[in-house]
Amino acid sequence: MPIVTSTEMFKKAYEGGYAIGAFNVNNMEIIQGITEAAKEENAPLILQVSAGARKYANHTYLMKLIEAAVIETGLPICLHLDHGDTFELCKSCIDGGFTSVMIDGSHFSLTENIKLTKQVVDYAHDKGVVVEGELGRLAGVEDEVNVSAKDSSYTDPDEVEEFVTKTGVDSLAIAIGTSHGAFKFKGQASLRFDILEEVQRRLPGFPIVLHGASSVIPEFVDMINTYGGKMSGAQGVPEDMLRKAASLAVCKINIDSDLRLAMTGTVRKYLAEDPAEFDPRKYLGPAREAIKQLVKNKIVNVLGCNGRA
Ligand code: G3H
Ligand code: 13P
Ligand code: ZN
Repeated sequence: MPIVTSTEMFKKAYEGGYAIGAFNVNNMEIIQGITEAAKEENAPLILQVSAGARKYANHTYLMKLIEAAVIETGLPICLHLDHGDTFELCKSCIDGGFTSVMIDGSHFSLTENIKLTKQVVDYAHDKGVVVEGELGRLAGVEDEVNVSAKDSSYTDPDEVEEFVTKTGVDSLAIAIGTSHGAFKFKGQASLRFDILEEVQRRLPGFPIVLHGASSVIPEFVDMINTYGGKMSGAQGVPEDMLRKAASLAVCKINIDSDLRLAMTGTVRKYLAEDPAEFDPRKYLGPAREAIKQLVKNKIVNVLGCNGRA
C-alpha cells in the first residue's frame, strides 16, 4: 500500500464517530513506536511533520522512514505537513511526496487567509494532495511562533462556511480552547464545545481538526519532575473531552507533546538510574516502547480508531 491521503479515513471516522490520531514525528524511534502501535491495533494513521522537524531530520530521511513504516505495517498511512506557513513550503512537501498539507493562515485576516489557503488548495488538488486550513488561533508554542494567550482567539462560526467554500479545503482546524505544549489550562480545563457544535451544524459532514490535543499524561510529567525536570502546573486536555470531540465532527486529533514527554521522561529515568550507560540503544529502546504503549492507549481508549484500518 502506498502512502495515502486522509480522505477515506475522515469519511469513515466522521460516520463512525471516532477520530484518527495525527502524531508528530522527527526520528526513527518515534516513527517506529507509533507505527508498531497502530499495526498491533490495526488503526489508520496520520504521521505529521512540522517545518522544524523537516529541517531537523531532512525531507528524504523522513520520506524513507515513513515508506519503511508503510512496508512494515501494511497500514494506510497519511503523511501530512503540520502548520505549513508559506505556499513555497507546502509546494515543496507536495512535490516531495507528502499526501496532505496544512496551510496555517490563521494569523492573517480572513481575506488574506482565504487567498493563501486557496493558492495552496489549487496546487495541491491538481496533484491529488489534500489540504487542512485553520480558522481561529491557538495559544502556545509551535516552532519559532509563540502565541500568547491574549493573542489567541476562538474560531468564529460565522466565518467557516465562507472559508471552506471559497478555499476548497478538505478539512478545517478550529480553536475551541486547546493550546500547543504542556501547559494548556490555568485551573479547570474547559473547551468550547458550543463552538464545535455550531461549526458542525454549519458544515454538516465536514471533517474538523483539533490541534493542541495532548493529555499531558501525569505519569510522564512526574517522571520528568522526579529526574531533574521542572514541569509543575503542566496540564493537558482530559481524555473524556477528546472522546467527546471524536464523537462529534472532529476526525483528526493532533498529538505531539505527549510523545515528547514520554520519550524525554523515559530517557531521563534510564540515565538517572544508570548514569554510566552510553549506548543510545539502551535508552532509546525503552523510549520507543513508551511511545508505543502511549499510542496504543490513545488509539483504543481515546480515538476509538482501533480495528478501522
Ligand atoms: O504544533 C506544533 C507541533 O507540536 C510541532 O512542534 O514546530 O516544535 O516541531 P515543532
Ligand atoms: P500538542 O502540543 O497538544 O501535542 O499539540 C500538537 C499539535 O497540535 C501539532 O500540530
Ligand atoms: Zn498544531
